[in-house]
Amino acid sequence: MTRSQRKLDHIKLSMETGRHSQNGLEDITFVHQSLPGTKLKDINLNTKIGGLSLSSPIFINAMTGGGGEKTLEINRNLAIAARETDLAMAVGSQMAAIRDWQEEKTFKVVREENPKGIIFANLGSELSPEQACKAVAMIEADALQIHLNVIQELAMPEGDRDFSGSVQRIAEAVKAVDVPVIVKETGFGMGLETVNALLETGIAAVDIGGFGGTNFASIENFRRNRPLPFLEEWGIPTAASIAEANHAAGNKVTVMASGGIHNSLDIAKSIALGAGAAGLAGQCLRILLDRGTEALIEELEILKTELAVIMTALGAANIKDLHKTPLIISGRTHHWLNQRGID
Ligand code: FNR
Repeated sequence: MTRSQRKLDHIKLSMETGRHSQNGLEDITFVHQSLPGTKLKDINLNTKIGGLSLSSPIFINAMTGGGGEKTLEINRNLAIAARETDLAMAVGSQMAAIRDWQEEKTFKVVREENPKGIIFANLGSELSPEQACKAVAMIEADALQIHLNVIQELAMPEGDRDFSGSVQRIAEAVKAVDVPVIVKETGFGMGLETVNALLETGIAAVDIGGFGGTNFASIENFRRNRPLPFLEEWGIPTAASIAEANHAAGNKVTVMASGGIHNSLDIAKSIALGAGAAGLAGQCLRILLDRGTEALIEELEILKTELAVIMTALGAANIKDLHKTPLIISGRTHHWLNQRGID
């Protein structure tokens, strides 16, 4: 199977496998405030990620690497939606374009459609410092995402089996590029141990990419003759992962949330747990493929408006206030955090 065909399969299968597990955000409840003291029109959604200023904490997360015309059109439409809503956007893995320059247009279209927007480049942790620089230059990126996808690789018959040296390569990439580096998971979450190990690399942010949304073990199992069902239940749910990462990160790196984030309440809860931003991948792709670019723009605008409504109700005038809002954590997430020594 070619890399291009695999990328197209991922798009199709990610829509078919969907969200089939809970991401833990259902365990989080806000405490109602009858005297919030806020005004809807004064709510400020500005946030900072590793020195970058974003007008909203919502971002479109990485999807669609190489794959020809179809993925180029998806990237074009995601870029238009990001431009029209003034949201940051990540491209999918650029490795295909680094190996074959003819694939570059699939990514360059994102910068062409959105010349002034905040765009994240994307490569896996097998990257070299030269590849990191090339990926950033290709789309004049404002930051570089480095993705971790051990479980997906293990589930892929043709995947990697050697996961040594990642921390060292990430540290070298950080030194090589002149933009902030975000290390992200791809749906299996990050815990204390992972974030602690990353702190020494000089990265600016982690995107915990938690369990409970797009599931690459399910996607790869569809493509295997003999599936590995245990991998489909593997991972740290998004809510617990945000709290773990936040505990480890302190104020040294920014925590970004993703993994099954579908609506404004998910976004607000993620921020209240400590995330500086919240990313949506599968949900954006689903809206785009089912209903088109205009519908995606409309839905993203609704998310921003609803987030401001929730913040008004909670008395949180800005993202810093939302970090401090009281929360009730119940169920599995409560047990999880208790056992991990996180309050
Ligand atoms: C992804 N994701 C991804 N991540 C990454 O860092 N590089 C990539 O190339 C891709 N490719 C990709 C393709 C498709 C079709 C999907 C749906 C997703 C992972 C993505 O950024 C995110 O981490 C996970 O999908 C979890 O978020 P959601 O989908 O639950 O919001």
